[in-house]
Amino acid sequence: MITLKTKDEIEIMRQAGRIVAETLTMVGENIKPGITTLELDRMVEEFILSQNAIPAFKNYHGYPASACISINEEVVHGIPGKREVKEGDIVSVDVGSIYENFYGDSARTFAVGEISKEKAQLMEITQKCLMAGIDKARNGNKLGQISAAVQQIADEHGYGVVRQLVGHGIGRKLHEDPQVPNYGTGDEGPILKSGMVIAIEPMINMGTYEVKAMPDGWTFVTADGLPSAHFEHTVVITENEADILTMV
Ligand code: MF3
Ligand code: CO
Repeated sequence: MITLKTKDEIEIMRQAGRIVAETLTMVGENIKPGITTLELDRMVEEFILSQNAIPAFKNYHGYPASACISINEEVVHGIPGKREVKEGDIVSVDVGSIYENFYGDSARTFAVGEISKEKAQLMEITQKCLMAGIDKARNGNKLGQISAAVQQIADEHGYGVVRQLVGHGIGRKLHEDPQVPNYGTGDEGPILKSGMVIAIEPMINMGTYEVKAMPDGWTFVTADGLPSAHFEHTVVITENEADILTMV
């Protein structure tokens, strides 16, 4: 069942979204060679709590941290720990907040110092995929138009679009209906309606789209070991351009 949010609920979600956006901006200011992913996670948690919000991922199905931090060939759901990020890494940071019982969810991939041209292009195109998807997120369109727009741009560059993990509706729960795949055709899925709120989150691989789960039970990595990037926004469907809740 897809729930439509009221104006008042959207204003609360705007706060939840603002908090994750500001958190990610703070991460961007602090991510430097030598910092550990656990140090970044601590900063994320402290910042969210300082905003009178709750880190949404902590304890979510037993997840042990406030942020998911995934380096290079790690796609998503990397668990923060003692590993230091280093020059040349690309680091995907995914953050969720709960504010007055509503969720916000957003992710960005950061470059650490100088990165290769190939990694820089992967990040740039993944962000472009997200924005192309958001451009199709409006009242009356089919959800599949979002998916197709994302896939088309990734395909043009010969990248792999992760299929095993998808975007999602969001509201009083982190994951609500509908699922938002990053691949498919424009004639699939439900019709988008004003008041729906969805998280669009392309995960784009430099090589194969295939991913595998690591023994820690959380981290997904690319099957071929090539890098991956991830950008995510929480957006509200309207009659016009989508209202992006997680942009500062
Ligand atoms: N943003 C992630 C998603 O939508 C949520 C990670 S859940 C966690 O899939 F448990 F891994 F934190
Ligand atoms: Co999400």
